[in-house]
Amino acid sequence: MQVMGYMVHLLEEELIKHLDPEVRAVLDVGNYIVASGGKRMRPILSLLTCKALGGDEKSVLPLAIGIEYIHVASLLHDDVVDGADRRRGKLSANVVFGNDLCVLTGDYMYAKALWLYSVYGNLKSIEIVSKAVMDMAQGQVLELKSVGDLIDEDTYFSIIDRKTGALFGASMAVGALVAGREDYEEFYRIGLKIGRAFQLVDDALDYSGSEEKLGKPVGSDLKEGKCTYPLISVIEKLNFEDVKRSLRSGEILWLREKVVELGGVKKTYERALTEVQDALEELYGIVGKDLVQPLEALIISVVKRER
Ligand code: FPP
Ligand code: MG
Repeated sequence: MQVMGYMVHLLEEELIKHLDPEVRAVLDVGNYIVASGGKRMRPILSLLTCKALGGDEKSVLPLAIGIEYIHVASLLHDDVVDGADRRRGKLSANVVFGNDLCVLTGDYMYAKALWLYSVYGNLKSIEIVSKAVMDMAQGQVLELKSVGDLIDEDTYFSIIDRKTGALFGASMAVGALVAGREDYEEFYRIGLKIGRAFQLVDDALDYSGSEEKLGKPVGSDLKEGKCTYPLISVIEKLNFEDVKRSLRSGEILWLREKVVELGGVKKTYERALTEVQDALEELYGIVGKDLVQPLEALIISVVKRER
């Protein structure tokens, strides 16, 4: 865990250092979201993957920063789309600065990430991250289009693999690429599973987490009409018409309680654990068990997190 502490320290310094817009308002929004204390899981995944494969973590650092910039850009945009009011225990940036500045600063941070890739990466790494952002945007659109509807498991995974899995996949692929691995696509697939587990846990926490620890309201998914895995996993035991009415009207308290009572949250954690176990098995198959610490610890923490 000492390695992780050192990496987080390094990342925090670099995240502020590279954020250098000349326009004051862009700097204010950028600093607000960057300094609001994310877990930095994606960039740490890039650094640890590169290190586990014998690569030089300093070479992957600016690319890991780019990954985190893409992540925060996506949160700025997501909070505008979701009309959110809190993130990471603070008022969300859209509430403090308004939608316009958040969309535009998100654009800046995304472009800054691609700039970092063009300076410190290569064409392959640019291809990996830009494809991930294409997936993220498509995942968000798919999700938006299914608001108020019941969706099946396949549709759910096609949404979360894109909106969340893709950037986790890219984080590991970039780490592997910098370490000189030709099989970086294998690492993309492993990262995708970790991202799946991350989003499954996110969706479980939206039913059963603590607002204080999460730093954002719980129950938002149902309130926004989003059908996620906890509900999908127990849908056969519910009346479809009642559920649809609830998703569309925002009267969700009974539904949330029912999903928890029927074991939807438990099933979601079980599925997340399966994804993490699969990811670890694949990783051990390529890298060898003795080399993957503390990467292994980070991957396991995805299913243990409370925020
Ligand atoms: C949070 O999901 C949002 C995402 C995982 C992806 C957002 C992606 C985009 C807006 C498209 C890409 C855009 C750019 C600029 C790179 P959530 O709403 O389930 O989680 P939350 O509860 O934390 O808001
Ligand atoms: Mg959101």
